Amino acid sequence: MILVVGASGSLGGKIVRGLLERREVVRALVRPGRPHRPIERDGATVVVGDLRDRLSLDRACEGATAVVTTASASKTADDSIENIDVRGNENLIAAAEAAAVERFVFISTLNASAGSPVPVFRAKGMTEQRLRQSRLVHTILQPNAFMDVWFPMLVERPAFSGQPVTLVGESRRRHAFIAERDVAAFAVSSLIAAAARNATLPLGGPEAVTLKDVVRAYEQGARRSFDVRSVAPGEPIPGAPEVVWGLAAALETFDSPVPMEDTCRTFGVTLTSVAEFARSRAAARATS
Ligand SMILES: NC(=O)c1ccc[n+]([C@@H]2O[C@H](COP(=O)([O-])OP(=O)(O)OC[C@H]3O[C@@H](n4cnc5c(N)ncnc54)[C@H](OP(=O)(O)O)[C@@H]3O)[C@@H](O)[C@H]2O)c1
Repeated sequence: MILVVGASGSLGGKIVRGLLERREVVRALVRPGRPHRPIERDGATVVVGDLRDRLSLDRACEGATAVVTTASASKTADDSIENIDVRGNENLIAAAEAAAVERFVFISTLNASAGSPVPVFRAKGMTEQRLRQSRLVHTILQPNAFMDVWFPMLVERPAFSGQPVTLVGESRRRHAFIAERDVAAFAVSSLIAAAARNATLPLGGPEAVTLKDVVRAYEQGARRSFDVRSVAPGEPIPGAPEVVWGLAAALETFDSPVPMEDTCRTFGVTLTSVAEFARSRAAARATS
Protein backbone atom coordinates (compact mmCIF):
# COMPACT_ATOMS: atom_id res chain seq x y z
CA MET A 1 0.00 0.00 0.00
CA ILE A 2 1.28 3.45 -0.94
CA LEU A 3 0.61 6.47 1.23
CA VAL A 4 0.24 9.78 -0.63
CA VAL A 5 0.59 12.93 1.46
CA GLY A 6 -0.72 16.04 -0.30
CA ALA A 7 -3.33 13.95 -2.14
CA SER A 8 -5.90 16.76 -2.08
CA GLY A 9 -3.52 19.01 -4.02
CA SER A 10 -3.20 19.43 -7.76
CA LEU A 11 -0.04 17.36 -8.30
CA GLY A 12 -0.90 15.02 -5.40
CA GLY A 13 -4.25 14.17 -7.03
CA LYS A 14 -2.51 13.33 -10.32
CA ILE A 15 -0.09 11.04 -8.49
CA VAL A 16 -2.99 9.26 -6.74
CA ARG A 17 -4.73 8.68 -10.09
CA GLY A 18 -1.47 7.55 -11.73
CA LEU A 19 -0.91 4.98 -8.98
CA LEU A 20 -4.50 3.75 -9.17
CA GLU A 21 -4.16 3.32 -12.94
CA ARG A 22 -1.26 1.00 -12.17
CA ARG A 23 -3.57 -0.91 -9.85
CA GLU A 24 -1.66 0.08 -6.72
CA VAL A 25 -3.49 0.24 -3.41
CA VAL A 26 -3.45 3.89 -2.38
CA ARG A 27 -4.05 5.49 1.00
CA ALA A 28 -4.43 9.27 0.82
CA LEU A 29 -3.72 11.52 3.79
CA VAL A 30 -6.34 14.25 4.08
CA ARG A 31 -6.39 16.94 6.75
CA PRO A 32 -9.20 16.93 9.33
CA GLY A 33 -12.35 18.61 8.03
CA ARG A 34 -11.09 18.81 4.42
CA PRO A 35 -13.09 17.37 1.52
CA HIS A 36 -12.13 13.79 0.69
CA ARG A 37 -15.01 12.49 -1.47
CA PRO A 38 -13.27 13.12 -4.84
CA ILE A 39 -10.24 11.13 -3.68
CA GLU A 40 -12.41 8.24 -2.51
CA ARG A 41 -14.35 8.36 -5.77
CA ASP A 42 -11.03 7.90 -7.61
CA GLY A 43 -10.56 4.68 -5.63
CA ALA A 44 -8.13 5.55 -2.83
CA THR A 45 -8.84 5.03 0.86
CA VAL A 46 -8.56 8.08 3.04
CA VAL A 47 -6.70 8.49 6.31
CA VAL A 48 -7.13 11.70 8.28
CA GLY A 49 -3.92 13.39 9.43
CA ASP A 50 -1.70 16.42 9.45
CA LEU A 51 2.04 16.83 8.96
CA ARG A 52 2.15 18.69 12.27
CA ASP A 53 0.61 15.75 14.16
CA ARG A 54 3.17 12.96 14.47
CA LEU A 55 0.69 10.42 15.89
CA SER A 56 -1.57 10.85 12.87
CA LEU A 57 1.45 10.18 10.63
CA ASP A 58 2.33 7.02 12.55
CA ARG A 59 -1.22 5.78 11.93
CA ALA A 60 -1.05 6.79 8.26
CA CYS A 61 2.30 5.03 7.68
CA GLU A 62 1.24 1.79 9.37
CA GLY A 63 1.40 -0.99 6.76
CA ALA A 64 2.63 1.32 3.98
CA THR A 65 5.40 0.01 1.71
CA ALA A 66 6.00 3.47 0.23
CA VAL A 67 5.29 7.13 0.91
CA VAL A 68 5.01 9.87 -1.71
CA THR A 69 4.72 13.44 -0.46
CA THR A 70 3.86 16.61 -2.36
CA ALA A 71 2.53 18.45 0.69
CA SER A 72 3.65 22.02 1.12
CA ALA A 73 2.49 25.27 2.66
CA SER A 74 3.53 27.10 -0.51
CA LYS A 75 0.01 27.56 -1.95
CA THR A 76 -2.32 27.08 1.04
CA ALA A 77 -0.40 29.49 3.33
CA ASP A 78 -2.44 28.57 6.42
CA ASP A 79 0.74 27.96 8.41
CA SER A 80 4.42 28.74 7.91
CA ILE A 81 6.75 26.97 5.50
CA GLU A 82 8.90 26.27 8.58
CA ASN A 83 6.07 24.42 10.36
CA ILE A 84 4.73 22.46 7.41
CA ASP A 85 7.57 21.98 4.93
CA VAL A 86 10.44 21.68 7.41
CA ARG A 87 9.03 20.32 10.70
CA GLY A 88 6.07 18.55 9.10
CA ASN A 89 8.23 16.67 6.59
CA GLU A 90 10.66 15.81 9.38
CA ASN A 91 7.74 14.24 11.27
CA LEU A 92 6.72 12.31 8.16
CA ILE A 93 10.25 10.97 7.54
CA ALA A 94 10.51 9.89 11.18
CA ALA A 95 7.10 8.17 11.01
CA ALA A 96 8.09 6.40 7.76
CA GLU A 97 11.35 5.21 9.35
CA ALA A 98 9.50 3.94 12.42
CA ALA A 99 7.03 2.06 10.21
CA ALA A 100 9.88 0.52 8.15
CA VAL A 101 8.54 1.99 4.92
CA GLU A 102 10.55 0.71 1.94
CA ARG A 103 10.48 3.70 -0.44
CA PHE A 104 10.02 7.43 0.10
CA VAL A 105 9.47 9.88 -2.77
CA PHE A 106 9.77 13.57 -1.96
CA ILE A 107 8.65 16.33 -4.32
CA SER A 108 11.28 19.01 -3.85
CA THR A 109 12.06 21.77 -6.33
CA LEU A 110 14.80 22.77 -8.75
CA ASN A 111 17.28 25.03 -6.90
CA ALA A 112 16.45 23.53 -3.49
CA SER A 113 19.27 24.26 -1.07
CA ALA A 114 19.46 24.39 2.72
CA GLY A 115 21.45 27.62 2.30
CA SER A 116 19.00 29.35 -0.07
CA PRO A 117 17.63 32.78 0.92
CA VAL A 118 14.29 31.77 -0.69
CA PRO A 119 12.21 30.21 2.15
CA VAL A 120 10.62 27.42 0.09
CA PHE A 121 13.94 26.45 -1.56
CA ARG A 122 15.61 26.44 1.86
CA ALA A 123 12.84 24.30 3.39
CA LYS A 124 13.03 21.81 0.51
CA GLY A 125 16.83 21.71 0.83
CA MET A 126 16.55 20.96 4.56
CA THR A 127 14.09 18.12 3.93
CA GLU A 128 16.39 16.71 1.25
CA GLN A 129 19.27 16.70 3.77
CA ARG A 130 17.12 14.98 6.41
CA LEU A 131 16.00 12.36 3.89
CA ARG A 132 19.57 11.60 2.75
CA GLN A 133 20.54 11.06 6.39
CA SER A 134 17.57 8.74 6.99
CA ARG A 135 17.43 4.96 6.71
CA LEU A 136 14.86 5.25 3.92
CA VAL A 137 15.42 4.30 0.30
CA HIS A 138 14.45 7.64 -1.17
CA THR A 139 13.93 9.55 -4.39
CA ILE A 140 14.10 13.32 -4.47
CA LEU A 141 12.35 14.86 -7.47
CA GLN A 142 13.37 18.45 -8.20
CA PRO A 143 10.88 19.80 -10.74
CA ASN A 144 11.21 23.14 -12.48
CA ALA A 145 8.23 25.57 -12.47
CA PHE A 146 4.92 23.89 -13.39
CA MET A 147 3.18 24.81 -16.65
CA ASP A 148 -0.13 24.17 -14.85
CA VAL A 149 0.61 26.93 -12.31
CA TRP A 150 2.58 29.55 -14.21
CA PHE A 151 0.90 29.55 -17.63
CA PRO A 152 -2.66 30.11 -16.30
CA MET A 153 -1.43 32.75 -13.88
CA LEU A 154 0.68 34.79 -16.30
CA VAL A 155 -0.81 34.09 -19.73
CA GLU A 156 -4.12 32.19 -19.81
CA ARG A 157 -6.10 34.14 -17.24
CA PRO A 158 -5.59 37.58 -18.82
CA ALA A 159 -5.58 36.32 -22.43
CA PHE A 160 -8.91 34.52 -22.13
CA SER A 161 -10.61 37.23 -20.11
CA GLY A 162 -9.89 39.92 -22.71
CA GLN A 163 -7.07 41.55 -20.70
CA PRO A 164 -3.56 42.24 -21.98
CA VAL A 165 -0.92 39.68 -21.04
CA THR A 166 1.70 41.43 -18.93
CA LEU A 167 5.31 40.26 -19.32
CA VAL A 168 8.33 41.47 -17.37
CA GLY A 169 10.95 43.44 -19.32
CA GLU A 170 11.83 41.90 -22.66
CA SER A 171 10.98 38.36 -21.50
CA ARG A 172 14.34 36.94 -22.58
CA ARG A 173 14.98 34.31 -19.94
CA ARG A 174 14.36 30.68 -20.83
CA HIS A 175 12.85 28.12 -18.48
CA ALA A 176 12.12 24.43 -18.95
CA PHE A 177 8.58 24.59 -17.52
CA ILE A 178 7.21 21.10 -16.86
CA ALA A 179 3.63 19.76 -16.93
CA GLU A 180 2.34 18.43 -13.59
CA ARG A 181 1.23 15.21 -15.28
CA ASP A 182 4.86 14.53 -16.25
CA VAL A 183 6.06 15.16 -12.68
CA ALA A 184 3.34 12.74 -11.52
CA ALA A 185 4.57 10.14 -14.05
CA PHE A 186 8.11 10.40 -12.67
CA ALA A 187 6.82 10.10 -9.10
CA VAL A 188 4.90 6.92 -10.00
CA SER A 189 7.81 5.28 -11.83
CA SER A 190 10.26 6.29 -9.07
CA LEU A 191 8.53 3.80 -6.81
CA ILE A 192 9.73 0.87 -8.88
CA ALA A 193 12.68 2.02 -10.97
CA ALA A 194 16.06 0.80 -9.73
CA ALA A 195 17.63 4.04 -11.00
CA ALA A 196 15.46 6.00 -8.58
CA ARG A 197 16.93 4.38 -5.46
CA ASN A 198 18.57 7.10 -3.35
CA ALA A 199 18.60 9.39 -6.39
CA THR A 200 18.04 13.12 -6.78
CA LEU A 201 16.47 13.92 -10.14
CA PRO A 202 16.18 17.46 -11.51
CA LEU A 203 13.10 17.56 -13.78
CA GLY A 204 12.18 19.98 -16.52
CA GLY A 205 10.10 20.16 -19.66
CA PRO A 206 11.41 19.20 -23.11
CA GLU A 207 12.45 22.74 -24.05
CA ALA A 208 13.53 25.95 -22.35
CA VAL A 209 11.26 28.79 -23.48
CA THR A 210 10.63 32.45 -22.71
CA LEU A 211 7.19 33.59 -21.58
CA LYS A 212 6.95 35.36 -24.94
CA ASP A 213 7.25 31.88 -26.53
CA VAL A 214 4.48 30.66 -24.21
CA VAL A 215 2.20 33.49 -25.38
CA ARG A 216 2.94 32.50 -28.99
CA ALA A 217 2.08 28.87 -28.25
CA TYR A 218 -1.28 29.92 -26.76
CA GLU A 219 -1.92 32.22 -29.72
CA GLN A 220 -1.37 29.30 -32.08
CA GLY A 221 -3.60 27.09 -29.92
CA ALA A 222 -6.38 29.70 -29.85
CA ARG A 223 -5.82 30.78 -33.50
CA ARG A 224 -5.83 34.43 -32.54
CA SER A 225 -3.38 36.97 -31.20
CA PHE A 226 -3.34 38.45 -27.72
CA ASP A 227 -2.57 41.95 -26.57
CA VAL A 228 0.84 41.81 -24.83
CA ARG A 229 2.34 44.53 -22.63
CA SER A 230 5.50 44.81 -20.66
CA VAL A 231 6.34 46.17 -17.21
CA ALA A 232 9.61 46.79 -15.40
CA PRO A 233 10.71 44.07 -12.92
CA GLY A 234 8.64 44.23 -9.70
CA GLU A 235 5.98 46.54 -11.18
CA PRO A 236 2.33 45.52 -10.70
CA ILE A 237 0.97 42.83 -13.03
CA PRO A 238 -2.71 43.72 -13.36
CA GLY A 239 -5.01 40.99 -12.02
CA ALA A 240 -2.19 38.97 -10.42
CA PRO A 241 -1.55 38.86 -6.66
CA GLU A 242 1.37 40.96 -5.42
CA VAL A 243 3.51 37.90 -4.67
CA VAL A 244 3.39 37.02 -8.37
CA TRP A 245 4.90 40.41 -9.38
CA GLY A 246 8.13 39.49 -7.57
CA LEU A 247 8.09 35.88 -8.76
CA ALA A 248 7.63 36.93 -12.39
CA ALA A 249 10.47 39.44 -12.01
CA ALA A 250 12.65 36.72 -10.45
CA LEU A 251 12.08 34.50 -13.51
CA GLU A 252 13.75 37.24 -15.59
CA THR A 253 17.03 36.96 -13.64
CA PHE A 254 18.13 33.45 -14.66
CA ASP A 255 17.67 30.68 -17.24
CA SER A 256 16.70 27.17 -16.19
CA PRO A 257 17.15 24.59 -18.94
CA VAL A 258 17.11 20.99 -17.67
CA PRO A 259 18.70 18.24 -19.81
CA MET A 260 16.10 15.46 -19.74
CA GLU A 261 16.93 12.94 -22.47
CA ASP A 262 18.65 10.37 -20.24
CA THR A 263 16.12 10.71 -17.40
CA CYS A 264 13.17 10.30 -19.78
CA ARG A 265 14.72 7.23 -21.37
CA THR A 266 15.48 5.64 -17.99
CA PHE A 267 12.01 6.30 -16.56
CA GLY A 268 10.00 5.82 -19.75
CA VAL A 269 8.33 9.23 -19.52
CA THR A 270 7.44 11.30 -22.62
CA LEU A 271 7.42 14.98 -21.77
CA THR A 272 4.59 17.34 -22.66
CA SER A 273 5.72 20.17 -24.96
CA VAL A 274 4.69 23.77 -24.41
CA ALA A 275 2.80 23.67 -27.74
CA GLU A 276 0.82 20.55 -26.71
CA PHE A 277 0.03 21.98 -23.30
CA ALA A 278 -1.06 25.35 -24.69
CA ARG A 279 -3.13 23.72 -27.45
CA SER A 280 -5.09 21.57 -25.01
CA ARG A 281 -5.67 24.44 -22.59
CA ALA A 282 -6.78 26.77 -25.39
CA ALA A 283 -9.18 24.08 -26.65
CA ALA A 284 -10.58 23.58 -23.14
CA ARG A 285 -11.07 27.35 -22.79
CA ALA A 286 -12.87 27.48 -26.13
CA THR A 287 -15.41 24.85 -25.04
CA SER A 288 -15.92 26.07 -21.44
N1 LIG B 1 4.22 25.26 -8.52
C1 LIG B 1 5.41 25.01 -9.02
O1 LIG B 1 5.81 25.59 -10.05
C2 LIG B 1 6.31 24.01 -8.32
C3 LIG B 1 7.60 23.80 -8.81
C4 LIG B 1 8.41 22.86 -8.19
C5 LIG B 1 7.95 22.15 -7.09
N2 LIG B 1 6.69 22.39 -6.63
C6 LIG B 1 6.24 21.59 -5.46
O2 LIG B 1 5.24 20.69 -5.91
C7 LIG B 1 4.29 20.50 -4.88
C8 LIG B 1 2.97 21.07 -5.40
O3 LIG B 1 2.04 20.12 -5.23
P1 LIG B 1 0.54 20.52 -5.53
O4 LIG B 1 0.47 21.28 -6.81
O5 LIG B 1 -0.24 19.31 -5.38
O6 LIG B 1 0.33 21.59 -4.35
P2 LIG B 1 -1.02 22.08 -3.72
O7 LIG B 1 -2.13 21.96 -4.71
O8 LIG B 1 -0.72 23.40 -3.08
O9 LIG B 1 -1.23 21.00 -2.58
C9 LIG B 1 -0.54 21.06 -1.37
C10 LIG B 1 -0.98 19.88 -0.57
O10 LIG B 1 -0.33 19.96 0.70
C11 LIG B 1 -1.30 19.68 1.69
N3 LIG B 1 -0.95 20.21 2.97
C12 LIG B 1 -0.72 21.51 3.31
N4 LIG B 1 -0.48 21.59 4.62
C13 LIG B 1 -0.55 20.32 5.13
C14 LIG B 1 -0.40 19.77 6.41
N5 LIG B 1 -0.15 20.53 7.48
N6 LIG B 1 -0.56 18.44 6.58
C15 LIG B 1 -0.83 17.64 5.52
N7 LIG B 1 -0.99 18.10 4.27
C16 LIG B 1 -0.85 19.44 4.07
C17 LIG B 1 -2.55 20.35 1.14
O11 LIG B 1 -3.71 19.91 1.84
P3 LIG B 1 -5.07 20.82 1.87
O12 LIG B 1 -5.77 20.49 0.59
O13 LIG B 1 -5.75 20.31 3.08
O14 LIG B 1 -4.64 22.25 1.97
C18 LIG B 1 -2.50 19.88 -0.30
O15 LIG B 1 -2.97 18.56 -0.42
C19 LIG B 1 4.73 21.30 -3.69
O16 LIG B 1 5.49 20.52 -2.83
C20 LIG B 1 5.58 22.39 -4.35
O17 LIG B 1 6.52 22.95 -3.48
C21 LIG B 1 5.86 23.28 -7.22
